[in-house]
Amino acid sequence: MKILVGISGGIAAYKSPDLVRQLKKSGVEVRVAMTKAATSFISPLTLQAVSGNPVSTDLLDPEAEAGMGHIELARWADLILIAPATADLIARLAMGMANDLVSTLCLATTAPIAVAPAMNLQMWANPATQDNIKQLQQRNISILGPDTGEQACGETGLGRMLEPAQLVAECELFNNQVELTLTGKKLLITAGPTREDIDPVRYLSNYSSGKMGFALAKAAFLAGAEVTLIAGPVNIESLHSIKRINVISARDMYKAVHEQITDQDIFIGCAAVADYRVSEVAHQKIKKNDQQLVLTMVENPDIIASVTTLKNKPFCVGFAAETTDVLKYAKQKLSKKNLNMICANDVSNCEIGFNSDCNQLTVINADGQSVIFEKESKASLSRKLINLIAEQLPSTQRD
Ligand code: C5P
Repeated sequence: MKILVGISGGIAAYKSPDLVRQLKKSGVEVRVAMTKAATSFISPLTLQAVSGNPVSTDLLDPEAEAGMGHIELARWADLILIAPATADLIARLAMGMANDLVSTLCLATTAPIAVAPAMNLQMWANPATQDNIKQLQQRNISILGPDTGEQACGETGLGRMLEPAQLVAECELFNNQVELTLTGKKLLITAGPTREDIDPVRYLSNYSSGKMGFALAKAAFLAGAEVTLIAGPVNIESLHSIKRINVISARDMYKAVHEQITDQDIFIGCAAVADYRVSEVAHQKIKKNDQQLVLTMVENPDIIASVTTLKNKPFCVGFAAETTDVLKYAKQKLSKKNLNMICANDVSNCEIGFNSDCNQLTVINADGQSVIFEKESKASLSRKLINLIAEQLPSTQRD
């Protein structure tokens, strides 16, 4: 994929070299165009070094035009990403102006355009900016963000540019190599561990990182699904366009799942839900009095099993993370929990288990047919698994 990054003159431009570096790392070919104001914040030489290509800054530069001219550059791109996009550049794009290189490239291209606004919260909230944003949206220009949080001006609110990692993830949406196998489908997924309190300062949990569930949520979204992700306590960013609900305990997760389950076409239980919780959480920190401490545990609700008993149950996919007899236990769970599909995962191997970036799965469906996915990154494995789920959806759910 070839992305032309347009940088305009806001303080968030200091993040643009990192954005370019991360895009390149994800396999994207990058060229950069900057407004004059952007060059006051960050040097074109820096962008040239990280992109590995000459940086264009001037519409009327004879030398640059003799190389890759602005029309050629506009044709070269599969996507133009403006990051950061200032209020001024957004206004000029809305007016269809071509008074500098970046705005001209946006007019001259037939490629999709995505804009990552970055500005002071009052400037973002101003009706003039909001009207301009609406105009861009009506022209099918994608607006990525902005995020909320601390701003360079010292205020806190909506107007921060999305972080480079999030922008990189959003750019994948424009990569038309992804098959749209789940267009129009709603998918709910749980991910990560749950955390069960013992007292105000201690808890029980497990080593699940959430990486597999988050990769699946993203793959489903890229395949066209409307995704809701219910995440246990993890430290991972998710796509801005995915609805994310953060929970802590198994009971919180159960409640969130049942609040979201109506109308879902697919449910994936990828979370490593704690099977037990402490029967009574101590109100105060438990003191070290004896050599032994005995905790009484009670069973947590089985979330996925409660979903498969629903009248209008969605297509249900479970995970079986096991350390021994992986396939045997996976098959038992498939039938006991009445699932449509189970993904057996050997977590005794640290190269493919919890917290690893890779995984290897044996996927078994309710008819007993199995497919083996050899070891590969959780991202590419997720794309394959999502396509397999799409193929196996009953035709009533597929159409
Ligand atoms: O923990 P267990 O090995 O039984 O997990 C198998 C499947 O059941 C997984 O998909 C997991 O997300 C789901 N599960 C659940 N609620 C639980 C326990 C497991 O949804 N309380």
